[in-house]
Amino acid sequence: MSAIESVLVENRVFPPSDAAVRGARISGMPAYEALCKEAEQDFEGFWARLARENVKWTRPFTKVLDESKAPFYKWFEDGELNASANCLDRHIGTPVENKTAIVFEADDGTVAKVTYKELLARVGQFANALKAQGIRKGDRVIVYMPMTIDGVVAMQACARIGATHSVVFGGFSAKALNERIIDAGAVAVITANYQMRGGKELPLKAIVDEGIAMGGCDTMKTVFVYMRTPTACNMVAGRDKTFDEVLKGQSTECAPVSVGAEHPLFILYTSGSTGKPKGVQHSTGGYLLWAKLTMDWTFDIRPDDLFWCTADIGWITGHTYVAYGPLAAGATQVIFEGIPTYPNAGRFWQMIEKHKVTVFYTAPTAIRSLIKAAETDEKVHPKNWNLSSLRILGSVGEPINPEAWMWYYRHVGGERCPIMDTFWQTETGGHVITPLPGATPLVPGSCTLPLPGIMAAIVDETGKDIPNGAGGMLVIKRPWPSMIRTIWGDPERFKKSYFPEEMGGKLYLAGDGAVRDAKTAYFRITGRIDDVLNVSGHRLGTMEIESALVAKTDMVAEAAVVGRPDDVTGEAICAFVVLKRARPAGEEAKAIANELRNWVAKEIGPIAKPKDIRFGDNLPKTRSGKIMRRLLRSIAKGEAITQDTSTLENPAILEQLAEKN
Ligand code: WT7
Repeated sequence: MSAIESVLVENRVFPPSDAAVRGARISGMPAYEALCKEAEQDFEGFWARLARENVKWTRPFTKVLDESKAPFYKWFEDGELNASANCLDRHIGTPVENKTAIVFEADDGTVAKVTYKELLARVGQFANALKAQGIRKGDRVIVYMPMTIDGVVAMQACARIGATHSVVFGGFSAKALNERIIDAGAVAVITANYQMRGGKELPLKAIVDEGIAMGGCDTMKTVFVYMRTPTACNMVAGRDKTFDEVLKGQSTECAPVSVGAEHPLFILYTSGSTGKPKGVQHSTGGYLLWAKLTMDWTFDIRPDDLFWCTADIGWITGHTYVAYGPLAAGATQVIFEGIPTYPNAGRFWQMIEKHKVTVFYTAPTAIRSLIKAAETDEKVHPKNWNLSSLRILGSVGEPINPEAWMWYYRHVGGERCPIMDTFWQTETGGHVITPLPGATPLVPGSCTLPLPGIMAAIVDETGKDIPNGAGGMLVIKRPWPSMIRTIWGDPERFKKSYFPEEMGGKLYLAGDGAVRDAKTAYFRITGRIDDVLNVSGHRLGTMEIESALVAKTDMVAEAAVVGRPDDVTGEAICAFVVLKRARPAGEEAKAIANELRNWVAKEIGPIAKPKDIRFGDNLPKTRSGKIMRRLLRSIAKGEAITQDTSTLENPAILEQLAEKN
């Protein structure tokens, strides 16, 4: 893009239409500003009001925020509630009870629907089945399920009896599953025999078997198996039980168990800057408040909306905006089992037309890959479908580049639908910086302004505020209800990762760089400032991939992993490897690179496969032995090395590492 063009891009502003402002819950910027002011003037009063208005408490809270053990904040601590009751029971006896809760579209296009009442019965029955297997409040249960109604039922059923779920994305490996079962001390795994994706039947249960067989899963007693396809799978007598088996004879009524507001609703593992994934622990009360409230605020969800969030339940987006938020809001939502490119790259557009989706929420990486597909094949361009049902669009997972934003706005939204570029993280529980559809003027590539009550700011490494217009580190200065409570089993790591002493110990450090516009104070996220990569909106630690590579002890001596920009996936993984044998070349190098890729897929999951693997006799190190990652990042990008290399032990290897396989 030329300089003039990019200036034009930055100056494009899209104010909400008068109609959008008129109908919205938060109607116009003055209404947004009034809420922000309310939060500033009476922080606890603001949250107490919203928590009373949006959550059904079985025991009302009297305390709002307890900061006595900061940064281990407690919200609404003496209040009690049940998350599942807040998503299902609350609608019984209202017009919502017979409304469709979920429109499920299978990989092959088959559609199934459930009403709120039916979903409640399914959740109740499965909750009873969990209880019958001895699962109780406080137990941890792993959910390793495909995108199906039953995946949501499994999560809701855990919540109903106060069991803490930990969903593991169906693309993660046996090893990743094994580590999570052990770390969480899980008593059960809920899985399926197979999952259907892109016309292929992929095993899930076999991976669970393999993961448990790796050992250490001593707490694990039961494996629940949903038969997604008619294909039989291995069943271990005494341990494994099909859904049919455990549901037989169970009542569909199960009284929800009231839990304290701080009771852990779930643990969700995510990557950090060390090799070991972090078990992000979320609360019940504060989390649920945020799931419900952001459905209302960010998506301005209405009774006749058809909401579709394309995220898998294995990620936080699939927790807050599939399993909990839409149900708490009483919305009808689409759940899609398959992938955006099957049977062709028009699948999303075809489904929007078919189901008359009104609010569509997806990731920039999906948009970019569909742009590419539409550019090479006119037949999958969104213009071939009637997308006039759409009212609001959403984006999540990574920065959306202005070009992709404009395409999404024009070709999907028909220049009619505002795009909510929602910035948030596994740790924040829900949106924290995002436009509002009936208030915020949009600027492509900017997530705009914090939600009311979210005290976001940009600071330097000592925690000092940085003026607008200059870049720095994104922090949130005050706690908020849906924030991470701790890292499961590792409170010290929680403190160190998110509330570093060097910054005063009181600021929540997001781990992203950001800059606020000098005029509008809008936020623009510039990307992670730690060793975390964002590949197709999936979060991966460079150390995690390095550990996986060096675990191939018969081949790999040393490995360093960095990210490089990629047009479709945002970032791509680039691994620099020193083998235990001589540096390979040509076909042999290609073959070894492939072997290593498959190895990483087995260690972590296919999403962690390095795109580039480069071999060297060594890595660029300083004389004190430190790997110079900055150099590796330049090499990965294909940039000329302009940095000072005089401290380098062996400058000649830079040339080797620049060679592609
Ligand atoms: C990281 C969090 C939020 C749910 C999905 C990802 C990046 C996320 C945006 C956005 C720029 C974004 C950040 C963040 N990110 N949304 N709208 N604009 N960056 O959750 O796996 O916990 O990853 O995703 O880098 O820290 P996650």
